[in-house]
Amino acid sequence: MPNVTKTVPQPKLIFEKSRKGRIGCNLPEANTPQVDIPAAVGAVREGLAWPEVSELEVVRHFTNLSHINYGIDTGFYPLGSCTMKYNPKINERTAGLSGFAMLHPLQPESTAPGALEVLAGVYDFLREITGFDEITMQPVAGAHGELTCLMLIKAYHESRGQGSTRTVVLVPDSAHGTNPASAARCGYDVKTIPTDADGNTDLDALARNLDETVAAFMVTNPSTLGLFEPNIARICEMVHAVGGQVFCDGANMNAMVGTTRPGDHGFDCMHLNLHKTFSTPHGGGGPGCGAIGLKAQLEPFLPAPALKRRPDGTPFFDRERPLSIGRVSTFFGQFLMAVRALTYLLAYGKERLPQISRYAVLNANYVKARLRDHLPAAHDRPCMHECVLTATPYKKLGVRALDISKRLIDYGFHPPTNYFPLIVPEALMIEPTESECKETLDAFCDALIAICEEAKVNPDALHAAPTTQIVGRLDEAAAVKTLDVRWYPERAGVTA
Ligand SMILES: Cc1ncc(COP(=O)(O)O)c(C=O)c1O
Repeated sequence: MPNVTKTVPQPKLIFEKSRKGRIGCNLPEANTPQVDIPAAVGAVREGLAWPEVSELEVVRHFTNLSHINYGIDTGFYPLGSCTMKYNPKINERTAGLSGFAMLHPLQPESTAPGALEVLAGVYDFLREITGFDEITMQPVAGAHGELTCLMLIKAYHESRGQGSTRTVVLVPDSAHGTNPASAARCGYDVKTIPTDADGNTDLDALARNLDETVAAFMVTNPSTLGLFEPNIARICEMVHAVGGQVFCDGANMNAMVGTTRPGDHGFDCMHLNLHKTFSTPHGGGGPGCGAIGLKAQLEPFLPAPALKRRPDGTPFFDRERPLSIGRVSTFFGQFLMAVRALTYLLAYGKERLPQISRYAVLNANYVKARLRDHLPAAHDRPCMHECVLTATPYKKLGVRALDISKRLIDYGFHPPTNYFPLIVPEALMIEPTESECKETLDAFCDALIAICEEAKVNPDALHAAPTTQIVGRLDEAAAVKTLDVRWYPERAGVTA
């Protein structure tokens, strides 16, 4: 058991290490004429308390800080719905090749046929993996992909004279918060569809809400409960029968790669999180890639320019798109994400792609089975790539899901996702991904089991956790609402 009483020394801020006159670099004599900075600009520099430190101190400072960080390169990252998947290092090698990294977005297309071929190569893979007719990689986050799909759906209804009458988007109560947010951002009224006792879409409730005001139904498959929606084909038929379109939140594609294709289930469009499923770094809401796939009826509205192949197979940007919704990002999205994704896809190869989903599903079911007697699953049926467990048995002891998660930090593990999906009380959502080995999963499960035993005899150890880090239990609500990470020299008594 980790030492609960250990006091962890607080690292000093770089400002606190500062000593007047100390410098960390030697700049050569300027050989260009001196230019005076305009007074208004110069004034901004007055009174700044720059840290004055030697090069060695800078190197040590940031190296030590980096050791405090937790990342996929240092440990297991079980966050469900946020897939911190291993990004093979070879991806970075290819993305760093100067021919890719030094490309200028304004350089003429004719000078970058290789880059176009990379984009088209990813499109070809994604088309085949998802079963959709068209792909675009302009959106730079999953939520951005959702919004783009809804914009396509809106343009489609408008083109049929139904833009003003189809005003509602249906969203399940288990959905990721970005789904209703994207629908509202696109100007739709959002109606919530409940989940039934088995964890599936409540078909009766769906039927009651379906009429000719419905523009779209947004479904996550597998759902955020980590469950495959068995009625998905029926759901698509029901929505199509009233003229609506069906969007698939494909952030959970890790469970389906090479095994089954959303395009074949009846969906009209979907977004993919390249920064989850196809091993590119997570974007933090921005610099990711929320590639989207769509069926032929939505093709005329594709964001422009649309990447196409000529009859001879060479890729080009089609700019003659009179019905396009326009650009949704600058240039062509995050190009280096495409390089990483293509590297990953080619390294796996078509034949071995199904291993991704098989191992991802196997690992999640293994964790679920090992923890069954300690943290029961929210729904007792085989899960997909992630499992949603509940800590409700410990609530009567005064122990919450958050306490268990925080205690995991003392055992050396990053916590899983907490309290999501919202419809599961005391939810702990675990996504091991396909790349973790049995030994790691066992060590993680052993830690969780030990914590559950501890909850019965010493719940205070959980309430106090974490105690082995440089910060203890944070007020997370305050951290979100009143976050202030500035350093105030005057409060520290430092003058410039
Ligand atoms: C199910 C689901 N949908 C959508 C998103 C949104 O993706 P992003 O964070 O890239 O905007 C996420 C995010 O993790 C998710 O888990």
